[in-house]
Amino acid sequence: MGRTIFVNIFGLLAVVEAVLITAVPLPAAEDVVALRQGDMKAMAAAAKTISGMFKDPTSYKAAEFGSAADTIRERSGIVLSGHFASETANLQSKAGPQSKAGPNILKERERFDRIANDLRDYAVALDAAAQKNPGPMTASMRMKPGEAMGGGPFGTHVRDEQELLAMPAEHAFHLMLQTCTTCHAKFRTE
Ligand code: HEC
Repeated sequence: MGRTIFVNIFGLLAVVEAVLITAVPLPAAEDVVALRQGDMKAMAAAAKTISGMFKDPTSYKAAEFGSAADTIRERSGIVLSGHFASETANLQSKAGPQSKAGPNILKERERFDRIANDLRDYAVALDAAAQKNPGPMTASMRMKPGEAMGGGPFGTHVRDEQELLAMPAEHAFHLMLQTCTTCHAKFRTE
């Protein structure tokens, strides 16, 4: 009796183990590529949502604005970097022809990661703006006429968190879009 139970449990464990082993393989290069391309598409859709609300402020809804910012926050920073972490995931020859990741990502790792983190900082600032403005879009969220687009005295990098949270959300949004463009220009192949 006892022996039967032992055998049964052992058999069950073996089955569970087999299931776990087949269910959680290391992601193949193609999976990583599909995953990161999916993340990029989700970020593009989120950026479009935010952009639409700045174009037509009457369409602003804090919850939607905030969740679009979250979509980007959750897919930027180390999450984004992590999708390009290994040689297999990076080199087009290994990642597969469907990937447009540049071969220079590994060589210029720090720059790549910094841009990915900048993207996250801007998304965090946008999320904070949505929480601060639960009603209609306020004038404080908009850029002032004539306000420098390029990050003003800060260039495209706003290192100071206070400064970032103090600037109009629309400004942070434009700087955020510049991180997309900068990274693509440097690290994405045509
Ligand atoms: C730190 C670098 C980096 C940042 C920042 C970045 N991207 Fe990308 N993006 C890439 C790379 C590299 C690829 C190519 C990935 C591949 O094909 O394997 C890519 C691909 C894409 C694609 C094509 C996806 C597909 O289906 O092939 C879109 C769309 C995109 N990015 C949108 C965005 C948007 C929008 C932002 C900003 C909100 C952004 N990206 C920020 C590096 C970046």
